[in-house]
Amino acid sequence: MNDAGLTVRGLRVSFGGSRGMFGRGGRPAVAAVAGVDLDVAAGEIVAVVGESGSGKTTVARCVVGLVTPDDGTLSYDDVPLGSTRSRPPAIQRAIQMVFQDPRSSLNPRMTAGAIVREAWQAHPAAAPSGDQDAAVRNLLAEVGLDASVAGRRPSALSGGQCQRVSIARALALRPRLLVCDEAVSALDVSVQAQILRLLSDVRRDHGLSMLFISHDLGVVRQIADRVVVMRSGEVVEQAPAEDLFTRPTHPYTRALLDAALDLEGAAS
Ligand SMILES: Nc1ncnc2c1ncn2[C@@H]1O[C@H](COP(=O)(O)OP(=O)(O)OP(=O)(O)O)[C@@H](O)[C@H]1O
Ligand SMILES: [Mg+2]
Repeated sequence: MNDAGLTVRGLRVSFGGSRGMFGRGGRPAVAAVAGVDLDVAAGEIVAVVGESGSGKTTVARCVVGLVTPDDGTLSYDDVPLGSTRSRPPAIQRAIQMVFQDPRSSLNPRMTAGAIVREAWQAHPAAAPSGDQDAAVRNLLAEVGLDASVAGRRPSALSGGQCQRVSIARALALRPRLLVCDEAVSALDVSVQAQILRLLSDVRRDHGLSMLFISHDLGVVRQIADRVVVMRSGEVVEQAPAEDLFTRPTHPYTRALLDAALDLEGAAS
């Protein structure tokens, strides 16, 4: 393995086409992703932004193997990713996802400690050789949670705490790439800032890469090294974050930035 990171080429996904009776009529397929190329280098945080329905989540779901593309290739460190079921366990482990709604993405009947430990049942190769309880406590500490959280269920935790548990569960598998789909969108602004700081620390300490999906440009500016702008299933612009925010070249990017500024203005 080298450290090429994630490479996506010519990704295409459409949903819901039907042929209709006798091959006539029917519904046309919706092209959710219409030929996307993107890269996430080792240790890099790449954000994907764009309005609702632009295809961001569909790209994320292809990367983690929840959606099988119609066309295109995905690889990590030059190893082809393949579709969900054919992914080798080592690849499944290497790419972990953090979802938008921290509470509904955690099993409500399990304690936080059991949720983290369950990751090792699914992937025994990643299980610690020694004391698992101690390993769970270390992971919880790493994401800023007290050891007492291990015994609590998601309903007894705040949204921010739940998202920390999701991140601990992902880290339990020692991933190379974390795919975060609107991972802070459901949180209050002050909690958002804490989780963004945690994700930055995690990247620094583990040398992880991140594909960070968000519709919120203010959030993206706080965390991304590079930004990919999507519109109607296509990439319209990609640039280092600083360049994109100070010198956007595509009119759609400018419109997105203006809309975000208007929102900020209206809020203050
Ligand atoms: N499972 C599905 N079945 C049918 N259509 C879908 C499905 N998932 C997504 N789509 C459609 O694909 C397009 C892209 O959706 P996607 O969820 O990827 O956008 P998004 O950029 O993540 O939007 P949002 O910001 O609202 O999360 C939309 O037109 C959506 O309606
Ligand atoms: Mg989405």
